[in-house]
Amino acid sequence: MKRIFSGMQPTGNLHLGNYLGAVRNWVSLQHDYECFFCIVDMHAITVPQNPTELQRATREVTAAYIASGVDPKRCAIYHQSALGGYHAELSWILGTITPLGWLNRMTQFKEKAGKRREQASLGLFGYPVLMAADILLYHATHVPVGEDQKQHLELARDIAGAFNNQFEEDFFPLPEPQIFGEATRVMSLRDGTSKMSKSDTSDQSRINLTDDADAIAQKIKRAKTDPEMLPEQIEGLEGRHEAANLVGIYAALSDKTTSEVLSEFGGKGFGQFKPALADLAVSVLSPITSEMRRLLADPAEIDLMIADGATRARTVAEPILKRTKELVGFLEV
Ligand code: AMP
Ligand code: TRP
Repeated sequence: MKRIFSGMQPTGNLHLGNYLGAVRNWVSLQHDYECFFCIVDMHAITVPQNPTELQRATREVTAAYIASGVDPKRCAIYHQSALGGYHAELSWILGTITPLGWLNRMTQFKEKAGKRREQASLGLFGYPVLMAADILLYHATHVPVGEDQKQHLELARDIAGAFNNQFEEDFFPLPEPQIFGEATRVMSLRDGTSKMSKSDTSDQSRINLTDDADAIAQKIKRAKTDPEMLPEQIEGLEGRHEAANLVGIYAALSDKTTSEVLSEFGGKGFGQFKPALADLAVSVLSPITSEMRRLLADPAEIDLMIADGATRARTVAEPILKRTKELVGFLEV
């Protein structure tokens, strides 16, 4: 039986990249597998957060999951700190068998710490160990993540293997990454060579899941392009990053291949393509946006749903953590 775990940090604006690159894939997985979708607030605090904003963003991400079609009746949707003791305890145990050398190789830490390595916190350095704990705590077998998380996933496998070795039991399954292809990498609307990102200072660079129809249409209209027509063949998109990005977004939103989109729009200019893309984006995103607004208007209802998710997660995590502690040799009295 496959068991899926994935997580997202409750930080800032959720955007089209998060939807197409992550949440949408989760929606399709929930029909076939037991799924745990966590809002990883304990990871979020590895860099400074405003507490009020963290609470708001935790509900917003929950609403975005549900509005996108992740069903809280099928999946456990909850925030990590609701089971904070479990995640932290397993993270501690796993941290004791993780060599510093492994963590020193993590590129995300290097990027986040930058030149201020000595000022970076233990929490930021241990981020990948907590991530391994998230996954192993549920004996998850498959982890859908973006390309950028692949290295962390490999580390989680290594940690699971090291634990099994040291305590001489095949206890933790080695989790498999499920990387959703390059095709779903959404780039900035202002620069086709950088990823659409929550942290981009220009709001014009991304389509937020909270944008209304007018804002979406405006952003697409103003998106950077080149003066050429769209090509008939994929090869014609080479080196045309902005054009490739918009065609890729169209393909992803319409569930078509790039070739299919080009056979429809090849030879046409952006004056024709952009309005079609805007209409498509609005038609896919507006139901999500309005459902998010409806959910966010009643925070108490969201809190009930995540409390229920946490209860379900606890049922699965409890015996796994208990057995881990036995294997390590902790006395139970
Ligand atoms: P982040 O926004 O970096 O916290 O990422 C949350 C999830 O969304 C991860 O699974 C990322 O891989 C995915 N994601 C973030 N930005 C993009 C993007 N521009 N295109 C595709 N997926 C993305
Ligand atoms: N590090 C992931 C990200 O930034 C979020 C995350 C935390 C996660 N724990 C996880 C993803 C466990 C998958 C599985 O996107």
